[in-house]
Amino acid sequence: MARTVLVTGGNRGIGLAIAQAFAKQGDRVAVTYRSGGVPGAGAAEPGFGAGGADRQNGLFGVRCDVTDAESVDAAFTAIEAELGPVEVLVANAGITDDTLIMRMSEEQFARVLDTNLTGSFRVAKRASTKMLRGRWGRMIFISSVVGLAGGAGQVNYAASKAGLVGVARSITRELGTRNITANVVAPGFIDTDMTAGLSEERKAEIRKSIPAGRMATPDEVAGVVTWLASDAAGYVTGAVIPVDGGLGMGH
Ligand SMILES: NC(=O)c1ccc[n+]([C@@H]2O[C@H](COP(=O)([O-])OP(=O)(O)OC[C@H]3O[C@@H](n4cnc5c(N)ncnc54)[C@H](OP(=O)(O)O)[C@@H]3O)[C@@H](O)[C@H]2O)c1
Repeated sequence: MARTVLVTGGNRGIGLAIAQAFAKQGDRVAVTYRSGGVPGAGAAEPGFGAGGADRQNGLFGVRCDVTDAESVDAAFTAIEAELGPVEVLVANAGITDDTLIMRMSEEQFARVLDTNLTGSFRVAKRASTKMLRGRWGRMIFISSVVGLAGGAGQVNYAASKAGLVGVARSITRELGTRNITANVVAPGFIDTDMTAGLSEERKAEIRKSIPAGRMATPDEVAGVVTWLASDAAGYVTGAVIPVDGGLGMGH
């Protein structure tokens, strides 16, 4: 059965791979972007809060900044008008701003939390009302192996990603009886813009530490996310699912 899916930060990287995987299986898929639109979208650049349908690859692009509750609300309103209520939410938008704790400013800490953790709360809250009404829903939060393992220079990022576990598990307890599941996917190192900035030496070091001996492609995360949204995973909730080639084993 085709569902309405929203992937935040779905204009590139892991989010785009997830959006394309849902579109490929016939779902109605909306993605958010902050600027620049969605790859393959038509020439018409949508205004704030309005959607611009991407007829080429079936994605509906909607401008949204997850740090702004009004922008989140406007995006949901546009999606509801075009595709219907969001039934599958993938909270994927995220940023890093790494530095050691003694150098990390309060602003750096707060900004990463506001995007990764509070931003996910904002979209989950907005989606929950309609999911409750529809008595069906799937929320999937994109965390990181770093959320449970920690990462040097990543106090802000790790805290935000660990926080998503508490969010998903609390939603599971609040909404579990209504056919709504909330799960966390914890990727390891995935080949995207986020990891493109790492030096070749650092990448070689990382590969050595991963039992699988390589980074993953965004598609390998997407496969797990589409499965979590499927009927086959209806009894999986409050789980943290690693997609990390064994990097986080034991956490
Ligand atoms: N790559 C990895 O190795 C890795 C590992 C573990 C977890 N993750 C997580 O996976 C998710 C996707 O990562 P990625 O590697 O695909 O990252 P990416 O290529 O850097 O893309 C990040 C996405 O988030 C969006 N975004 C950032 N701030 C936003 C905001 N305030 N409002 C709305 N959208 C915003 C970006 O939109 P713009 O285009 O507008 O900037 C972009 O679409 C993130 O949550 C990340 O933490 C990644």
